[in-house]
Amino acid sequence: MSTYLLITGVAVGVYVVVYYKFVKGAQCKSKAKLHGKTVIITGGNTGIGKATALELARRGARVVLACRSRPRAEAAVNDIKEKSGSSEVVYRQLDLASLESVRSFAENFLKTEPRLDLLINNAGLLMGGRTEDGLGMMFGVNHLGHFLLTNLLLERLKEGGAARIVNVASLGHRFGSIDFDCLSAHKELGRGSSTFGLMKIYSHSKLCNVLFTHELAKRLQGTNVTCYSLHPGTINTELSRNTSRVLRVLLLPITALFFRGVEAGSQTTLHCALQEDIERHSGRYFSDCAVQEVDAKARDDAVARKLWEVSETLCGLR
Ligand SMILES: NC(=O)c1ccc[n+]([C@@H]2O[C@H](COP(=O)([O-])OP(=O)(O)OC[C@H]3O[C@@H](n4cnc5c(N)ncnc54)[C@H](OP(=O)(O)O)[C@@H]3O)[C@@H](O)[C@H]2O)c1
Ligand SMILES: *[C@@H]1O[C@H](CO)[C@@H](O)[C@H](O)[C@H]1NC(C)=O
Ligand SMILES: *[C@@H]1O[C@H](CO)[C@@H](O)[C@H](O)[C@H]1NC(C)=O
Repeated sequence: MSTYLLITGVAVGVYVVVYYKFVKGAQCKSKAKLHGKTVIITGGNTGIGKATALELARRGARVVLACRSRPRAEAAVNDIKEKSGSSEVVYRQLDLASLESVRSFAENFLKTEPRLDLLINNAGLLMGGRTEDGLGMMFGVNHLGHFLLTNLLLERLKEGGAARIVNVASLGHRFGSIDFDCLSAHKELGRGSSTFGLMKIYSHSKLCNVLFTHELAKRLQGTNVTCYSLHPGTINTELSRNTSRVLRVLLLPITALFFRGVEAGSQTTLHCALQEDIERHSGRYFSDCAVQEVDAKARDDAVARKLWEVSETLCGLR
């Protein structure tokens, strides 16, 4: 009897592992080539961003890695050049935890690069602390830095024909909410620095990504620029590096067994960036290379507009 139980247990375990690691998760099917096109990808030096950058370089794009650490970014540039055989991969300094850095990145980009076809807002972190401007770290980096960056680059995107903006959000947005009182009092989406508290703020910041995309699509109507948000899957990356040691140790076996690799993690971003005929879904949220329904709070027009206006004020756009 116990032998049967053991065999059943093992079989179920193997099935679960195989299912999550190899079966579940769609592939980007687009064969689009990108010769002559320019892409910016934030946080393209590691994790999902690096895997995305590699594939875009393979397809012929000029890829600009917008990263905060020169040594980490230069190592990635060399690696991507070698693996893709492309020489059109460059690093430009961008620290999303500094609005001044975002402004000088955009200024430098607009001066030196004649076109922009794809903006991939991929960088993100899960940690407490404050940005250079005194904003909460996750609100500042995951949302506001990307909000400012996108706004500063919009004109260039509009000039180039059918351009796209892809915002890497997360399934975690479902557990988020936007507390505007907290935001105005503390310039962060929540309080508390426990692991649980930080996870909550992270979810709030990812809800900002989805709402930002929702509002942006409305503001882009009548242009040839479209935008999308997405969940990349649960992917084994460096994202948990600055969480508590206990959590990292607990996560280790789960991550190793059930989280998928970065190539799988890049598929939905690639789908939103490349797939033909998804323009009618501008503003929507994707997962597993398909458009998905979201909760009412993630497509709330009033909240999305208010977040846009508060964001404009906080980064000095109004
Ligand atoms: N992994 C998952 O399971 C998962 C699930 C849902 C959503 N996501 C989202 O996927 C995106 C990519 O994350 P990942 O999992 O690939 O994590 P990762 O391996 O930690 O990569 C994050 C990237 O963001 C960059 N970054 C962080 N702070 C920055 C700043 N202030 N300025 C510029 N760049 C900054 C990092 O640069 P450094 O290397 O210099 O630190 C790194 O390149 C994030 O938006 C994350 O929220 C991930
Ligand atoms: C959008 O693209 C179409 C087809 O290339 C072009 O005719 C049209 O003028 C563009 N619209 C704008 C607002 O740029
Ligand atoms: C975050 O983690 C990285 C990698 O372990 C480390 O180099 C960095 O100092 C950490 N940052 C903070 C603020 O703890």
